[in-house]
Amino acid sequence: MANVTVIGAQWGDEGKGKIVDWLASRADAVVRFQGGHNAGHTLVVGEQVYKLSLLPSGIVTGTLSIIGNGVVLDPWALKAEIEKLEGQGVVINTENFAIADNCPLILPIHGELDMMREAAAGAGKIGTTGRGIGPAYEDKVGRRAIRVCDLAHLDHLEPQLDRLCAHHDALRAGFGEPMVDRAKLIAALKEIAPFVLQYAQPVWKRLKKVRKAGARILFEGAQGVLLDVDHGTYPFVTSSNTVSGTAASGSGLGPSATGFVLGIVKAYTTRVGSGPFPTELEDATGQRLGERGHEFGTVTGRKRRCGWFDAVLVRQSCAISGVTGIALTKVDVLDGFDTVKICTGYRLNGKVLDYFPSHAADQANVEPIYEEMDGWPGTTAGARSWADLPAQAIKYIQRVQELIETPVALVSTSPEREDTILVRDPFQD
Ligand code: GDP
Ligand code: IMO
Ligand code: MG
Repeated sequence: MANVTVIGAQWGDEGKGKIVDWLASRADAVVRFQGGHNAGHTLVVGEQVYKLSLLPSGIVTGTLSIIGNGVVLDPWALKAEIEKLEGQGVVINTENFAIADNCPLILPIHGELDMMREAAAGAGKIGTTGRGIGPAYEDKVGRRAIRVCDLAHLDHLEPQLDRLCAHHDALRAGFGEPMVDRAKLIAALKEIAPFVLQYAQPVWKRLKKVRKAGARILFEGAQGVLLDVDHGTYPFVTSSNTVSGTAASGSGLGPSATGFVLGIVKAYTTRVGSGPFPTELEDATGQRLGERGHEFGTVTGRKRRCGWFDAVLVRQSCAISGVTGIALTKVDVLDGFDTVKICTGYRLNGKVLDYFPSHAADQANVEPIYEEMDGWPGTTAGARSWADLPAQAIKYIQRVQELIETPVALVSTSPEREDTILVRDPFQD
């Protein structure tokens, strides 16, 4: 039985949450494997809108939902999110929700450091979500993180705190900030520990059991390939690997378990935060895409930058992440345009490129080469089958699939769960 790995193939916010929610009813478990509460995944089911940052999107359908070891977990953000969702009627308990006990924690000092650095960088800032993601991953790799399993041993935390605070105190001194308040940190951890520990377990074991029973696992990525710390627009990236391969290392299952790689692709391009964006439109057309697509960040409320579809970037993301098929989302946002453009290559220093170069200066200087297509009369909004789509919209989708050299498996035509066209079932592949 095939499993499915969902990843974003652009700069995040492609509609991963909607697609994971739609697929979740066919899955037996949904696993988050990287990122943290920098993610913002929106699900629309009838009148209800659910905004998830840390919880796997499967929680809304009651599917077993697991936070894997590759995630950085802010326990206070987790508690707030669980309480918010419970307020919306979602049932979350130790039967349907588990957290990897080897997950590193995001502490208040991580958010503080993130903000201090961004403030100090001025115009050169990354435009992070300010959630402490980068500093928490640094501490994980630096072998000084406090992890979920440590919450059960808080009376023996002193040697770890020594290592952690030695590092942070030096950094804080550089910013003219006071040393870490250790007593306050320990007290806060003691208070939150029982809440987190009720869900904590070696989730690799649970997943092994689930897999052995023939269950279908859905891996839910956060961010997008262009924000990947290796493959993205470095340094304007997040601090984790967002590519499909991380589903294995970030959950405790081998690569053979990750199955069909479903790349989520928006029918145009958006980005939130700083960094290169070749097809960005800082004109009325960009404004129109933003308004029609409601392009405001789920986490920070920031206005997302908008531009035409960039087939070069998506082709590269699909190759790097081994994408089997894509879900093309927000096609309806392009309804009503007389013409639409697709970027098919770049010009850089008099040369034509069919890929996105690695160097930041080259990334900033490439000029998009566009192909223009007619828009379509009528609407794709709410379409649930190919037959509902205008012929010209089908042409656009077919051209996208040709240029990115990857087939379309799903098409999404509104925020609503059921407004989805199934072309090729990823679970049956
Ligand atoms: P994620 O981070 O990839 O899960 O995406 P976000 O939830 O941050 O942003 C995607 C936004 O687009 C959300 O507000 C979704 O409700 C919405 N959305 C998803 N699919 C579609 C679609 O096909 N059409 C429209 N109009 N909106 C969509
Ligand atoms: P979802 O899962 C869009 C961006 C931030 C910033 C950069 C680094 O909803 O698609 P970080 O806080 O991670 O250190 O910020 O990454 N970013 C996202 N952009 N969608 C996201 O998640 C993002 N998560 C981080 O805006 O540019
Ligand atoms: Mg988002």
